Amino acid sequence: RITYVNGAYVASRDAVVSVEDRGYQFGDGVYEVCEVYDGALIDEARHLDRLGRSLKELRIEAPVNPGALKVILREIRARNRLSDGYLYIQVTRGVAKRDHVFPDPPVRASLVVSAKAIAPEKGEAAARKGVGVATMPDLRWKRVDIKSIGLLANVLARQDAKEQGAYEAWLVDSDGMISEGAASNAWIVDQSGAIVTRQLDHSILRGVTRTTLFDIIAAEGLRLEERKFSLKEALAAQEAFITGATTLVMPVVAIDGVKIGDGAPGPLARKLRALFHLAAA
Ligand code: PDD
Repeated sequence: RITYVNGAYVASRDAVVSVEDRGYQFGDGVYEVCEVYDGALIDEARHLDRLGRSLKELRIEAPVNPGALKVILREIRARNRLSDGYLYIQVTRGVAKRDHVFPDPPVRASLVVSAKAIAPEKGEAAARKGVGVATMPDLRWKRVDIKSIGLLANVLARQDAKEQGAYEAWLVDSDGMISEGAASNAWIVDQSGAIVTRQLDHSILRGVTRTTLFDIIAAEGLRLEERKFSLKEALAAQEAFITGATTLVMPVVAIDGVKIGDGAPGPLARKLRALFHLAAA
């Protein structure tokens, strides 16, 4: 395995950053996970756009321009002979003696790009059966539209979900509405047959998979509603599913152990999953 760290391609076991890196000390950085499917970088432009936005929101200057980053992504894909899996991109504010305020003068941001191979069959097997999610309070900060590496609340939620035998955590806001998954966006097909996912604000991440699915839904002439939905509404929904670069469209067949619909992956979720790579590649 080869990893890119600050200008060098090195064996992953030798890929290191300083203990004074602000990502390590403060979680002061952002990331992207980009799927590689049959050799193609899925939705690369949208991931790079979102990375640029996250950096801007945190006032971190990109260490390389998008053109150079595209070259690095291709190089990491090639050097790891990656056909199916993910590329992980992480940018932190850089290395400086520990102090909460930004380094002054600024230091160069740290950039890491790594690859992970995953057999596509694994996701397909999960999608055929559908997955369960477990709900829990959304304990994250109030700017989760920024794809920050500070993921402690997400880590604890997913661990909790795993210990309950669930595949993903669904985070519930203080009004009893579902925000999103701990590492995915949350969707239902409501009782009227509309496809529903929460509207964009600071309380969810603008998922790239979510955006691409909007294109598919429009092209198919299906009905989309961008609005909040409650746990109660989700439990009574015809279908539920999650989206993300690591899950694609994944049917949800149970919430907190309660069956959704007839407890099998729903027809719309299955259809949207099947259409996804056709639209994104
Ligand atoms: N997570 N919401 C959250 C909180 C996420 O962490 C993610 C992605 C998404 C879906 O976004 P996208 O469709 O762009 O992958 C929504 C990545 C995969 C991760 O943390 O591993």
